[in-house]
Amino acid sequence: MDLVNGFLNILAPILSITIFFFFFPGYFCFKCVHYIWRSVFSENLAGKVVVIAGASSGMGEHLAYEYGKRGAFLVIGARRENALREVAERAYFLGSPRAIPLRTDISKVEDCRRLIQEAIYQFGRLDHLVMSAGVTPVSLFEDTFEVTNFAPAMASKAAVVSFFETLQIEFASDIGITIVTPGLIESEMTKGKFLNKEGKMVVDQDMRDVVMSAVPIEVVVRLAKAVVDSACRGDKYLTVPPWFRTTFFVKMLCPEAVDWFNRWFTITEPEIPPTEAISKKIIDLPGLKDLIWPDSVRSPKIKSN
Ligand SMILES: NC(=O)c1ccc[n+]([C@@H]2O[C@H](COP(=O)([O-])OP(=O)(O)OC[C@H]3O[C@@H](n4cnc5c(N)ncnc54)[C@H](OP(=O)(O)O)[C@@H]3O)[C@@H](O)[C@H]2O)c1
Repeated sequence: MDLVNGFLNILAPILSITIFFFFFPGYFCFKCVHYIWRSVFSENLAGKVVVIAGASSGMGEHLAYEYGKRGAFLVIGARRENALREVAERAYFLGSPRAIPLRTDISKVEDCRRLIQEAIYQFGRLDHLVMSAGVTPVSLFEDTFEVTNFAPAMASKAAVVSFFETLQIEFASDIGITIVTPGLIESEMTKGKFLNKEGKMVVDQDMRDVVMSAVPIEVVVRLAKAVVDSACRGDKYLTVPPWFRTTFFVKMLCPEAVDWFNRWFTITEPEIPPTEAISKKIIDLPGLKDLIWPDSVRSPKIKSN
């Protein structure tokens, strides 16, 4: 066994690189033609039924508007009922034949079941399911007293990409799954809404500046259009904005350098406040926020209910 693995350790990289050079040009041409084909014959959403979890603000909210504009029936869920109702009304105004708001806490299995059952009960079918609900913690692991404080964030994040990649293989072309990896997108999260170290929801724009620093924030309307176009084309993956994909390659090729940089850039010594991080000093340079962030994220105001 040792001999076989030892042999493969040498052979596999050489073989993969050789196959890659022969295989890739043809594969790339096929992908281009396939992309054009899928764009031309992309799905028409008029009369389709779409369920969106996490639609009271941010990306989920604007996906509701984008699906609404294209004539889809909507069932939208989140915890803030008034905000959700307003989103449903606007989606209806924009073109959805019917938009139903339903109070949903996705950390409760019965709520998730109810959201799907509502779509089936009201419309007899479900065509697209969008999962945009989630919150992000913003504290160092070392400062965390109780790791279960982050249960809401864990429920939404843990192994989500791997889970859906497994389903992509299992369902193949029976059910299309588009995995969206957003860069930084205009939303309540990029206004600074986080879970703090006690697991409480706060809006902390100083910590937002530390974490996001000088990364441009994409406007949410552009994301919503890109996501719906991508799902209708049947893409497997989408990154918005597209340049953000290069960060995955940099991380893959030089993980040590990226980790070192992130630590140096965003984390301060224990005796120095986190808001003294270099990342914050950079984004605080005069005029930079105006240049690379949309106006809406400058205000700390988020929807109350
Ligand atoms: N914006 C970005 O740059 C960015 C980048 C990468 C990933 N993400 C992720 O994308 C997702 C969407 O966030 P966003 O940026 O659009 O921020 P957002 O404006 O804060 O939206 C989050 C949505 O999720 C809902 N939600 C949170 N917890 C929920 C729960 N337990 N049950 C039901 N709904 C819940 C919120 O509604 P209620 O509070 O009313 O329940 C809200 O509608 C999040 O998972 C976020 O971490 C965002």
